Amino acid sequence: MKNMGSVPYLLKKKKTTNNKKFLIAETITPYLSINHSYENQIDKIIHGDNLTILKSIPKSSINLIITSPPYFKQRDYGVGIGNEKTTEEYVENLLNVFSECERVLTNDGSIVFNLGDKYLESSLQLIPFRFAIEALKRFPVKLVNSITWVKLNPTPRQYQKRLVSSTEPFFHFVKSEDYYYNLAAYISNNGTKTKRTNGNNIGKRYFDLIESSNLTLEQKKLALCELQEVIEEVRTKRIESFRMKIKGIHSEPFGGQDGGRKYQLMKKGFTIIKIKGEPIKRDVIECAVETIKGSKHPAIYPLYIIKEIIKLLSRPNDVVLDPFIGSGTTAVAAKELGRRYIGIDINEEYCKYARARIRNINENKPLELFI
Ligand SMILES: C[S@@+](CC[C@H](N)C(=O)[O-])C[C@H]1O[C@@H](n2cnc3c(N)ncnc32)[C@H](O)[C@@H]1O
Repeated sequence: MKNMGSVPYLLKKKKTTNNKKFLIAETITPYLSINHSYENQIDKIIHGDNLTILKSIPKSSINLIITSPPYFKQRDYGVGIGNEKTTEEYVENLLNVFSECERVLTNDGSIVFNLGDKYLESSLQLIPFRFAIEALKRFPVKLVNSITWVKLNPTPRQYQKRLVSSTEPFFHFVKSEDYYYNLAAYISNNGTKTKRTNGNNIGKRYFDLIESSNLTLEQKKLALCELQEVIEEVRTKRIESFRMKIKGIHSEPFGGQDGGRKYQLMKKGFTIIKIKGEPIKRDVIECAVETIKGSKHPAIYPLYIIKEIIKLLSRPNDVVLDPFIGSGTTAVAAKELGRRYIGIDINEEYCKYARARIRNINENKPLELFI
């Protein structure tokens, strides 16, 4: 493209000619209609080929990139990545986009790529991992985690000789060891999208286990009393949680010293292990596949996961980029969390849909589709 020389041509066509000609011009060079200044790209959903648009974004200007490219030969989006003849070509095209992502990322930023795998001739191709290995080889990046998304509601298929695939990786890459990371803001429920109960059920199963155990009457009384106390500590948030071991029901620890857990089990008939700090934060997120009523996009990723990643890897007002924005999930998550966004998609209808989704945030009205 010769600087912006082509733009007046497009505008002239738009003013003077019929719709048909305009559509042809737009199909050939969809990116001509965007303003290339970085400031103008902020909080916008840009229609065009991501590689071209990314080249117009300045070096080290984006704080976080989260994206989910099309699967290889899974869905026909009409144009764009995913329709290549071979897996090698597909991975190569993804790496070209990744290269630009790495260029535009700030030194303390993160890139998160969510990829799906594919069966060809009855064999998994390990495409996500081939991509990740090549990215690590070719670019100055580090892989912090491969976070596994466990889909709680995979497509209900019955195969005779294989299991139903229900996981996808989210690869978290960084450029340096100084990457921004707010672990405290990230889910503290071991990656499961379940809400905590109001506390009424905490430890309930231990009451039953104590009752049915072979402890003496005295031991049972003491166990029930200590159980009540520790439940109160959880309810009042003095400790995070606890585990109880009861003689004859739970396995006994090996070794240990007098006064240790083994000794307590022997003498009292039970022991209580208090968990004080934050629970472990694992590289697993369990979450259902989402669908949005009325959406024309076939592959939307869960808003819940994207929000957690944004909280973990960016600050308020940071710029979050998604070069395969689709229905706009990343932009919706960013806006809802007070971050700025840039979204790119090659399909104009998806861009319109994403913009409508963003306009409707926090408004209790039905989605205005394709306006
Ligand atoms: C899996 S979808 C993304 C869905 C998105 N994460 C969501 O929640 O809606 C991939 C998107 O990439 C777009 N796409 C494919 N090739 C592209 C390219 N070269 N440039 C920009 N977008 C492209 C497709 O149109 C499609 O909407």
